[in-house]
Amino acid sequence: MTDPTPSTPTQSRTFSPTPEFTAQANGEAPLYDQATDHEAFWAEQAHRYVTWDKDFDTTLDWSNAPFAKWFVGGQLNVARNCVDRHVEAGNGDRVAIHFEGEGGDTRTITYAELLREVCRTANALESLGVRKGDRVAIYMPMIPETVFTMLACARIGAPHSVVFGGFSADALRTRIADAQARVVVTTDGQFRRGKPAPLKPAVDEAVSGGDSPVEKVLVVKRTEGEVAWDDARDVWWHDVVDSASDQHEAQPHDSEHPLFILYTSGTTGKPKGIFHTSGGYLAQTAYTNAVVHDVHPGTDVYWCTADVGWVTGHSYIVYGPLANGATQVLYEGTPDTPHQGRWWEIVQKYGVSILYTAPTAIRTFMKWGEDIPAKYDLSSLRLLGSVGEPINPEAWLWYRKNIGGDRAPIVDTWWQTETGAIMISPLPGVTDLEPGSAQRPIPGISAEILDDEGKPLHDPEAVGYLVLTKPWPSMLRGIWGDQERYKETYWSRFGDKYYFAGDGAKYDANGNIWLLGRVDDVMNVSGHRLSTAEIESALVSHPSVAEAAVVGATDETTGQAVCAFVILRSDARDEGEATVQELRNHVAKEIGPIAKPRQIMVVAELPKTRSGKIMRRLLRDVAENREVGDVTTLADSTVMDLIKSGLSSGS
Ligand code: WT7
Repeated sequence: MTDPTPSTPTQSRTFSPTPEFTAQANGEAPLYDQATDHEAFWAEQAHRYVTWDKDFDTTLDWSNAPFAKWFVGGQLNVARNCVDRHVEAGNGDRVAIHFEGEGGDTRTITYAELLREVCRTANALESLGVRKGDRVAIYMPMIPETVFTMLACARIGAPHSVVFGGFSADALRTRIADAQARVVVTTDGQFRRGKPAPLKPAVDEAVSGGDSPVEKVLVVKRTEGEVAWDDARDVWWHDVVDSASDQHEAQPHDSEHPLFILYTSGTTGKPKGIFHTSGGYLAQTAYTNAVVHDVHPGTDVYWCTADVGWVTGHSYIVYGPLANGATQVLYEGTPDTPHQGRWWEIVQKYGVSILYTAPTAIRTFMKWGEDIPAKYDLSSLRLLGSVGEPINPEAWLWYRKNIGGDRAPIVDTWWQTETGAIMISPLPGVTDLEPGSAQRPIPGISAEILDDEGKPLHDPEAVGYLVLTKPWPSMLRGIWGDQERYKETYWSRFGDKYYFAGDGAKYDANGNIWLLGRVDDVMNVSGHRLSTAEIESALVSHPSVAEAAVVGATDETTGQAVCAFVILRSDARDEGEATVQELRNHVAKEIGPIAKPRQIMVVAELPKTRSGKIMRRLLRDVAENREVGDVTTLADSTVMDLIKSGLSSGS
């Protein structure tokens, strides 16, 4: 197989659930048996977790595989499921969101208030011309208005496309164009590490030039920073939302009505618009939030630290927990502003009982030291979760001891933007936990590990490719505007019966699955997917660069880090550090600060096979300071010597 990241050692120590945890857990052992009748099982979850305006008549239509239809004939309104029904059930006074701004400003939003805000926002969006089926781009920080906007879109049936605030104007422009969004919702700026940073200028740039499909830009005032204003296009939130009616009649939408598009990096330079629909997505996000995160609405305080710009924020800040009527924390800022104990201060302040975060954050806290969390009362925490990349056993054990008080179970949850919801994870009241492994598919999900020929592997430690063997309710329904690419990317590597996830995996001797990282040219930096091809094309778009190759090198904190090798054009001058800085900034401008290479090495040649394919494996050896591996397939086997001698002489 094509070199996955090196595997983590298998940990033999396991942690059994306590009887007290098991006694109260939502996820119970019999679920595994019940799930053997795949469709009946999911029909039951869809009835348990979703309120339907019209019941579905067919659980799964797979006749046009790989295009799935779930809960066919059913109608629902996702926003009403996430908000109105909790108010109608008498829980309007329950807190939905404890918002904590980076600067310490707070806002407590009950379900009754959330309902009013979502209705106002929906009315305002409609007054700007948004109708069912129109796409709305959302480019916003982690503030309550972002959640209101997503739910207002869901209410209207206008699919949203949230673009992470760390993406550049160019990245925003291509996403707006691909989805043909009519409206963009943004803010004047956002607070980042104690300082206001502008956001609207990127939108202004992204919609400029006359060919933009965007008719209106709705702007929340957050930082009070100066903004350029186009009277014909720009509208202040406080002018149209605050004055809008807080009553909004919501229509039922078909189960398969598109809910959102979310762009993710693939193996080519062009991001894929992954799109999800309504009924199946809501059923599986709510079900997993209940059985994996073990959320008990009304008693738990849940906190998912992801940004809503990523799928984790969609599924486990907005849709799953709100469908369940959970109380949650929404935090705008960074973990070290104004101090490195900020997260633990928040846990203590709100009595957070369930924390869902990423390994990169945990490793950062490890680096900062255990005395920082030790200063806070974390005894409210009863369940911890991890997502985004493999969690190494050391980080898992540190998390359990220093955050979980050696008591809280940890769920390591494997899933993807494409899967929409958690797929492989322990059930915290059932599974004996094994640090470093996501363990087994949750009830209702089936996976296999295949070898190069597509034969299932069951031998412990045999490394292969992870595939999913049955359709699942929250699966992507395709790539927006490019269904051929959908088939080719996910349903062709092992034929049309297997969903190819793009991850390497193995079983251990206990039958637990270990995820071993991506097997394609996709990197995982701090739990964010970045494509080597996309960064390479950003680099070669700079006038000084002739050729570029990008690899993900192992990084102690971020999992992987972007390392680039560039060949300068013959007429470009190598100004050493200044050139490197210029190129790093160029990538930030083209894609966004998250894609900035940690390291750029200017080289004279790149290692290529005879067919011209760049051998990233060898570059990764250089980036990770290792002895360079087998070079026999190189067209010119002296290239690696040239690269290494060039680098050591400091050129
Ligand atoms: C890729 C998906 C799922 C939300 C965040 C990332 C990696 C994710 C785990 C985990 C090992 C993991 C995989 C996957 N990944 N969770 N628990 N253990 N690897 O979503 O950006 O779509 O990335 O993240 O490589 O394919 P995404």
